[in-house]
Amino acid sequence: MKNSLEIKDLNISLVGNKNPLVQNLSFDVRKGKILGIVGESGSGKTLTCKAIIKLLNEKVFKVSGSIKLDGNNILTMSEKQSRAVIGKDISMIMQNPMTAFNPMMKIGQHIVETIKAHTELTKKQAYALGSSALEEMNLQRVAEIMNSYPHTLSGGMLQRVMIAIALMLEPSIIIADEATTALDVKNQAIILEQFQRMRDIGIGLLVVTHDFGVIAQVADDVLVMKAGEIIEQGSVYQIFYNPKTEYTKELLQSRFLVDEEQLCLV
Ligand SMILES: Nc1ncnc2c1ncn2[C@@H]1O[C@H](COP(=O)(O)OP(=O)(O)OP(=O)(O)O)[C@@H](O)[C@H]1O
Ligand SMILES: [Mg+2]
Repeated sequence: MKNSLEIKDLNISLVGNKNPLVQNLSFDVRKGKILGIVGESGSGKTLTCKAIIKLLNEKVFKVSGSIKLDGNNILTMSEKQSRAVIGKDISMIMQNPMTAFNPMMKIGQHIVETIKAHTELTKKQAYALGSSALEEMNLQRVAEIMNSYPHTLSGGMLQRVMIAIALMLEPSIIIADEATTALDVKNQAIILEQFQRMRDIGIGLLVVTHDFGVIAQVADDVLVMKAGEIIEQGSVYQIFYNPKTEYTKELLQSRFLVDEEQLCLV
């Protein structure tokens, strides 16, 4: 199967500073597969995701390498081309939902404008599509949500709205940066089911998480990042049952320690 998203030699640094924040990353997100990324805080996971959807300010960050979506390099596309692709063929669920929305726009406006920017649907059709996407995320009283400003919703609700927006146009690649971290177990399960459904219809997903439980549940392959580099990659089975680096072993162990602590508290 053709690779959907191919990343080669991705380097990210601050303009005017030689120290790389992300170094020599190469990996593929394949259609119909979920690639998990794990790594300690500050290891460069979010920067990598943002570089893929061209969200890094060029005045602040220098990005080099190639990021090809179905063979076309996002980094060298014109702004017009990349605007057509991003949000439609590739979309991202942000780590912090509060900063992802324009506080002056109601949820319905966000949704309708996103759909209208990428499809020929009328406003009414866009509203209907958006409403059903929200319902699929287990959100109740959808009309009320559509008529709300972002700050009036809880973080968990906003996260589900953002996931609905990312999924509603059925892109070929979805990037999820800690998408389930702020959610309770029930809503986390709903989102993970959605991810699996997306994978089963041939979408490729890049799932960034601190939670090895999420990785175990949905990932096919895993990248382990440390200090801006990939230090290990393999199938989910290899990473769990035969980790090659001490760092991965430590990450796995710290997870089990947390679980033990939680068990003690129960
Ligand atoms: N705007 C910025 N200016 C300067 N340095 C930055 C900026 N954004 C990120 N960095 C640095 O880049 C590195 C990688 O950050 P990034 O946000 O990608 O980490 P992360 O792996 O997503 O961490 P977390 O798990 O906490 O979300 C960190 O050392 C961070 O300090
Ligand atoms: Mg991050």
